[in-house]
Formats: sequence, C-alpha cells, structure tokens
Amino acid sequence: MSNALQSLPLGTPLSPSAARVMLLGSGELGKEVLIALQRLGVETIAVDRYDHAPGQQVAHHARTITMSDPVQLRALIEAERPHLVVPEIEAIATPVLEELEAAGVVRVIPTARAARLTMDREGIRRLAAETLGLPTSPYRFCDSLAELQAAIEGSDGQAAIGYPCIVKPVMSSSGKGQSKIDTPADVAAAWDYAMAGGRVSHGRVIVEGFIDFDYEITQLTVRAAGRDASSNQVTTHFCEPIGHLQVSGDYVESWQPHPMSPAALQRARDIARAVTDNLGGQGLFGVELFVKGDMVWFSEVSPRPHDTGLVTLSTQTQSEFELHARAILGLPVDTTLRAPGASAVIYGGVDAQDVVFEGVAEALAEVGTDVRLFGKPESFVKRRMGVALATAHDIDQARAKARLAASRVRVKAAQPV
Ligand SMILES: Nc1ncnc2c1ncn2[C@@H]1O[C@H](COP(=O)(O)OP(=O)(O)OP(=O)(O)O)[C@@H](O)[C@H]1O
Ligand SMILES: [Mg+2]
Repeated sequence: MSNALQSLPLGTPLSPSAARVMLLGSGELGKEVLIALQRLGVETIAVDRYDHAPGQQVAHHARTITMSDPVQLRALIEAERPHLVVPEIEAIATPVLEELEAAGVVRVIPTARAARLTMDREGIRRLAAETLGLPTSPYRFCDSLAELQAAIEGSDGQAAIGYPCIVKPVMSSSGKGQSKIDTPADVAAAWDYAMAGGRVSHGRVIVEGFIDFDYEITQLTVRAAGRDASSNQVTTHFCEPIGHLQVSGDYVESWQPHPMSPAALQRARDIARAVTDNLGGQGLFGVELFVKGDMVWFSEVSPRPHDTGLVTLSTQTQSEFELHARAILGLPVDTTLRAPGASAVIYGGVDAQDVVFEGVAEALAEVGTDVRLFGKPESFVKRRMGVALATAHDIDQARAKARLAASRVRVKAAQPV
C-alpha cells in the first residue's frame, strides 16, 4: 500500500480554486471537523439524513439524502464533485465510495476500503483478529437464535464463547441493541433485543466473550504529514490515551491522559499502528482498546474522530477534529497535550422539538470549564445534545468539574408562545 502523502491545494471557497470537502454525516463530530476545515478556507458540503443537522448549520452547503442508498449517494457525489469525501458515520453505501475512488472521481478519507471494513463489526473484527493476528475477545457471528445458543454453549463442536458474553448487532453503534448475557436464560431476550436495535435490518449478530478489563481507552492515532516538510511520506502520530466510561454501551464521560503502564501503552500503540497501517490513507482514527494489567485487547476502530475524543477540544493544542482536518489536507499535525481534562455528556433528558438550555451560565462559571451545544433540532431522552469540557491539574479534578458543569445544563421543551 502506498504511503505517499497526498495534499489538497488550498484556495478560495465558492470560487473555481476552492478545495471542496464533503462530509457524509454532519452530527456533532462532523460539525467540529467542518469548523476546522472552514478555518483553513475549505469549501464544505455537509450531508445528513435530516435537515438542519449540526454540521449543516456551519457548512457552505447543506444536502439531505439517505446515505445508505447507493443511487442517491452516487448522484450527489457526481453532482457536487468534491475533492475529498469524509465519512462521519458508518451506515453509508460504501461500495459506491469504492467505485468512485477506483475511478479517480474522489478521494475517500481515509480510504474507501477502510470505510467498508469498519462499516459493520464483521469486516474490522476479522481483519484485526484473523488477518493481523491482534488480541481480541473470543467471538462468533450468528444469524439465528439457534446459532447464537450453539456458539455460546459450544454445542456446534467449536470452542464455546461461554458466559458472561456480549451480543451486538453487526451494524449498530452507541450500544444500540447490545446486551450482556450472564446465564442461558438471557439468550433469547438478548437475541430479540439485538434484532430490534440493529440499524439496518439484517439479522446478524456478533457474540463476544466478556473481557473483565481494568479500564478501556481510545488511542487516537493520526496518519498525516511528518514534521519534516521535505518528506512526502505519511507518518503515524499518537495522542495521549483517553480513558472513558460507558453506560449501556454509550459514552458518558471521557478524560485525558489516562495513566497506563509503559508496557500497556506500548502494546496499545503497537496495536493501533498495525490496524491503522493496514487501513491506510490519511486522517485520524479512534482505536478502542481494553486493558487489564499489561494486557491489551483490540475492540474496534473508527476511521474518523471518536466521540470520546470530544475531550480534546479542551485538552490538546489541536483537537482531534483539527488533527483530522489537517491530516486529510496533507498538513503537519501537533498531538501535544495542553492540559489534563475531561468531558461529560449532556443528554436531552426529554423528547421534544426546539429545546432551550438553562443553566449554561452556571455551568461556565468555573474557570477552565467549557460547553458545546450541538444545535440538534430534536431532543430525545437519550440523545446527546451537548458536552461539558473541563481542564484541571489532574484528571480526577477535571472529571468532577466536567460532571458538575454538565449537570448544571438543563434541557427543556420550549414553552409554546
Ligand atoms: N467483549 C466485551 N467485553 C467487555 N465489555 C465490552 C465488550 N464489548 C463491548 N464492551 C463494552 O461495551 C462498550 C460498547 O461496545 P462497542 O464499542 O463494541 O459498541 P458500539 O455500539 O460500537 O459503541 P460506540 O459506538 O459507542 O463505540 C465498550 O466500550 C465496552 O465498555
Ligand atoms: Mg465502541
């Protein structure tokens, strides 16, 4: 695979010289990537499945399509002719991206192959465990309740996954449709829950042996230009590890830097390098890893900014979003940590349109505290509507500050006028 650095000449937005970048998915993570691109004078096209998505509010152009529909996706890319296509979500018609990339129509970030392999849990798990030989939880893929039961019990002659284990739809994120199985009595309910929670209704699940980890981290890894401007090779850069807390498979708090033994950190970065070298291209990756003592397991990877990396908006000289923007344009990056910090998610807590936010002034009252409100047009009880950020002398103080700030923001249904 070529490691030659590709650069996009920067020009003037809305003119023939413009560098044009299309984001496929324009949620809160895409919004920050778009802002970073805007700062470099890139012309941006924000695509989402609904109007007024967060990123669409800050881009030059907003387009609303079903990105998993190959016909709609191809038509949009061919009409807009961006230089770069940057996937921000998984549920995209990736064969179209592979075709257009192969035909030289667009460059896909990091690569169209990476977008396909990480689109569901199967491609990336088989690559990591079977092709690259990286340590992962034991796993099996199953297409029916009977197969699931057999895989857990080992009654089909293969090694039993055993109890406890975790069942996840092959296509889902943020813990949707995911549940832990402790006893044989839980299996049928876990299967039904996975079928109801999968994003695209194909009835396939992964069952994974439960890893009793001490902690889990996201190792942000950037494939970008090196500091040596004369070299035209892509270089790998690592951020400080991000620790995080997941509730029901969804991130609620993250912090950086997470303390690690030198051996565990080395293993984490070796794994991150192996996966990202294979996926190739340019951009930032969020490599999710489980750690117990000096042992490290690969869990999954996002070939794009990671939700737990929202913390880098306050902790790093360049946030993960700025790193991604620079990496894809062929510019040098700086992964330096500025200060220890933390993020805490602000959930909607209410099902409503046009919500209002109370308590923001109180949340921001303490020095070293910040808030992002994503501007989503509709709130759900469990929808991420914003995030509180904090820096402090250490991660414990930062976590307490971020949690407090998040708790002070209250999301309310707007009063009818
Ligand atoms: N095999 C496992 N053993 C122990 N815990 C696990 C295992 N698999 C998943 N988890 C827990 O569930 C969380 C979510 O799992 P995973 O990352 O696979 O799902 P996801 O839906 O893609 O989540 P997200 O999109 O938020 O990253 C993990 O971060 C971890 O806390
Ligand atoms: Mg995950």
